[in-house]
Amino acid sequence: MFNPMYSEHADEYAAAIRDNSYNAFYERPSLLALLPELENKAVLDLGCGPGVYSEYLLSQGARVTAVDSSPEMVALVKQKLGRAVHCYEQDLALGLPQEADAAYDLAICPLAIHYLEDFTPLFRDVKRILKPGGLFVFSTHHPFVDYPFSPSGNYFLTEKIVDEWDTLGRPVQVGFYRRPLTAILQPLLEAGMTLVELSEGTPDPSLEQSDPESFRKLSTAPGFLFVKCRVL
Ligand SMILES: C[S@@+](CC[C@H](N)C(=O)[O-])C[C@H]1O[C@@H](n2cnc3c(N)ncnc32)[C@H](O)[C@@H]1O
Repeated sequence: MFNPMYSEHADEYAAAIRDNSYNAFYERPSLLALLPELENKAVLDLGCGPGVYSEYLLSQGARVTAVDSSPEMVALVKQKLGRAVHCYEQDLALGLPQEADAAYDLAICPLAIHYLEDFTPLFRDVKRILKPGGLFVFSTHHPFVDYPFSPSGNYFLTEKIVDEWDTLGRPVQVGFYRRPLTAILQPLLEAGMTLVELSEGTPDPSLEQSDPESFRKLSTAPGFLFVKCRVL
């Protein structure tokens, strides 16, 4: 799915998510809380965007490979992190054809799977590239949050939505897929992964001072869903 936010506006997106409320003070702390010890671990960053997660993983001593479908995002990661990270273009809808079996301890996929219509090729390959006992941690839109935007009003359908987000300080159209909770979790189980932890996220306490409205919203209703699974 083509989204100009991550191509034409890649630089602006990178600057916007560095310290905004939803990414820096809600999504990232909530996902990082699910990660294991990272020292000397082989980690794959899926839908890496401008590389905020890759940079963190490196700082914790992980060996990092990062992929994204946007050439502009891949260029930003290479510019920022150079040879410290192996970063390449890959459409996750096609799975991970360039990756070897049982090569990684951990795969993360923050805020990217909702751009895929079908999770099957990606989840099948995440299972394949993880070592036995390896972890897959991802975040995505909470079904509860997306449901009011359903064009059909049928919660149980997976549907494409085109919305306008103000992440860049002005409305930019973004297309993504909304789906019911079962359509997020069931493909993981069918791919052979086990659910080990589920979270609806917690805003960082400092957000209460810097953005009281978002803090109140995110303390009383979820924004994203955070999922941690293990390969047996
Ligand atoms: C919301 S950004 C998240 C970036 C990063 N994971 C983070 O949380 O900082 C979504 C990213 O997913 C990428 N993306 C969207 N569809 C994709 C696809 N089919 N395959 C690979 N990457 C995709 C976009 O290019 C973008 O960089």
